[in-house]
Amino acid sequence: MIPTPFPRSFALWRDPAGRFSPLKVVTLALVLLPAAQLAVRWGLGDLGPRPITEVLHGLGDWTVRFLLLALAVSPARSVFDWPGVVKLRRLLGVSAACYAGAHLSLYCVDQKWALGTVASEIVLRFYLTIGFVTLLMLGVLAATSTDGWQKRLGRRWKLLHRLVFVLLPLALWHYFLQSKSDVTNPAFFTGLACWLMLWRLAPKRWQGRLALLPPLALLAGLAAAGIEAAWYGLATGASAWRVLAANLDIGFGPRPAVAVALCGLAVFVVALLRRTLGRRRRRSVGGGQPGQGQGLAQTLPAQPFGEGG
Ligand code: HEM
Repeated sequence: MIPTPFPRSFALWRDPAGRFSPLKVVTLALVLLPAAQLAVRWGLGDLGPRPITEVLHGLGDWTVRFLLLALAVSPARSVFDWPGVVKLRRLLGVSAACYAGAHLSLYCVDQKWALGTVASEIVLRFYLTIGFVTLLMLGVLAATSTDGWQKRLGRRWKLLHRLVFVLLPLALWHYFLQSKSDVTNPAFFTGLACWLMLWRLAPKRWQGRLALLPPLALLAGLAAAGIEAAWYGLATGASAWRVLAANLDIGFGPRPAVAVALCGLAVFVVALLRRTLGRRRRRSVGGGQPGQGQGLAQTLPAQPFGEGG
């Protein structure tokens, strides 16, 4: 047998059976793209007067995006009736951890590798302490996401990986705290996180139902509006009602709450189209039972990191 340079579960381009997976290769290329784009723009001097800060922010943003995408795998499997998407969960989770590691490295570069200063800043500045704790948890989840660790830890693996539900709010808190006066982006991402959490809180038998999606979109939008208003109210003393009312004024552009609700409705439309087209295709080939395949995804457990289930 030819020895492979990587343990099988670190070969991110292979599926759990060890087969080459085109879907994973495409996803791997896509997750590397934002980092490559930032590197090229930095090289071309296209990032303004503070390129390190720009890249630091870009990497932080993408860490949150990949974290949310890793958590979106279970809903995608169920709502879009797409069991194959589970293959991407580990890749997305590990990508989030790598981007977070690069984000910290850039912070060290910004501090000219004065590691004493980095450590004292992390201890003294609350938003950095939260970022550091989040990064540690992400690191643990990424390191134990392999099949080997999954086997070694058995039932405790799932318990450990529930840490993602602790680290996600911490990551978003770090995002809010460093945003200072404008919390549009953290409020938007927090709204998306609320959609993901509300979906998980829904009874199992509803999770694959289309009828769940419009109210979920509305609730996540309302949650984003409430969190944004509460943040401005607490941080700046601005009237929560005025911030809430701004959501109804299109002169301000689409507020995070509206953007979150629209994303939720987009999920509904895509799921509706997939099911309608799938039903038509099954009918045209003359096979398939009504509802076939829709129950399978929901019978599988939802695991935040890792490819199993
Ligand atoms: C030791 C760990 C970390 C350190 C030292 C750190 C440091 C920083 C710093 C210095 C900023 C920019 C603040 C400013 O410009 O005033 C920032 C922004 C940010 N960080 Fe972190 N961070 C850490 C971990 C994390 C983690 C784990 C995440 C995500 C899971 C994260 C997500 C973000 C995001 C989203 C932003 C804002 C980006 C933007 O405004 O576009 N950080 N972080």
